[in-house]
Amino acid sequence: MKINSYSLDKESKKIKKDILKNISKVIDHNKYINGPENSILEKKLSSTLKSKNCILVSSGTDALLISLIAIGIKEGDEIITSPFTFISTVEVILSLKAKPVLIDIDSETYNIDISKINKKITKKTRAIIPVSLFGQPANLKELKKSIKNNKNIKIIEDNAQSLMSKHYGEYSNYFTDVSCTSFFPTKILGCYGDGGAIFTNDRNLATRIKKIRSHGSINKKDFDIQGVSGRMDTLQSSILLTKFKYLKKNLSNRSRIAAIYDKNIDKINSLLNNNLIQKPKILDFNKSVYSQYTIKTNHRDKLKKYFKEHNISTAIYYNKIVSEYSFYKKKCKFNNLKNASKISKQVLSLPINDYQSLKETKYICDVMFSFFKKY
Ligand SMILES: Cc1ncc(COP(=O)(O)O)c(C=O)c1O
Repeated sequence: MKINSYSLDKESKKIKKDILKNISKVIDHNKYINGPENSILEKKLSSTLKSKNCILVSSGTDALLISLIAIGIKEGDEIITSPFTFISTVEVILSLKAKPVLIDIDSETYNIDISKINKKITKKTRAIIPVSLFGQPANLKELKKSIKNNKNIKIIEDNAQSLMSKHYGEYSNYFTDVSCTSFFPTKILGCYGDGGAIFTNDRNLATRIKKIRSHGSINKKDFDIQGVSGRMDTLQSSILLTKFKYLKKNLSNRSRIAAIYDKNIDKINSLLNNNLIQKPKILDFNKSVYSQYTIKTNHRDKLKKYFKEHNISTAIYYNKIVSEYSFYKKKCKFNNLKNASKISKQVLSLPINDYQSLKETKYICDVMFSFFKKY
């Protein structure tokens, strides 16, 4: 048996016909930019996620960049975020010549440690970007409470990995000024290229975001602010509309797989030795969408190799934390990131995807069990 981390090959076999039908409709009306599928998708997403505005953009990275421009980030402003993330969370801060301030993560959820944020707030702090990693929201409610007296600080969630996740029974965007997501092909809802979306309940901010994504204008009658080329094209919307129909079913398959992994990891720990593997810690008030199922073990590299020998592909998110990259080390403000640094040497993401079967999941668990028998 050969098991991939992602299921795009299986997906294309199942839904290609449906996708092609919708692509063909776009070719017929040929409104490739700002076509009707874009507004249908924006409405569908905003009503599903109970956000007053959804604005489609060209990628998750551009969603973050456009949001930072929209809240007026300028040179020298400080933005607090996590070092345990994909590089673009921090890259966009530097694009605007602002200063990324990196704060250590919680050692169990791998999300930013909210309790460490207040000490790092200065007169220059203008935003916090909590990253909702691996499918689970960062502790947004606590974050919101902890900065409630700092009216100048906005919360911009990097929700690229956690679309549809819940926090205290609400979608995570309920707790933020702005939430940014990605439709990269392997995300929870992935298009066939690049795409992203911004969610906000703030009408003025939404108008600025709409202008910025389209060169500083909504209707081209006037260009009254500086913008970027940040639209998502209609073909991608047509693909996402097709895939949207399968989203709930796909999410329940992911939860089912996660539950099987949880059970098997508990079994391995209790039969062999309690400290061999740590399963993902999902906080009681969170509902994860399991964009990744990430375990922590001191035997990570050997386990990855063993999986590979058994034709199971696994991934490491992230092998290095942002401040360990040469360029970013010089550009970011940080001091003690010891949890993030340690965890980056222990994490391993097991395959979890929309079309993964029970048989495949059981095989992965059996291989994991046979590996840990040695310890
Ligand atoms: C946490 C995080 N932030 C931002 C991004 C960027 O999204 P995109 O690839 O759509 O630009 C990603 C994508 O991998 C991500 O995982």
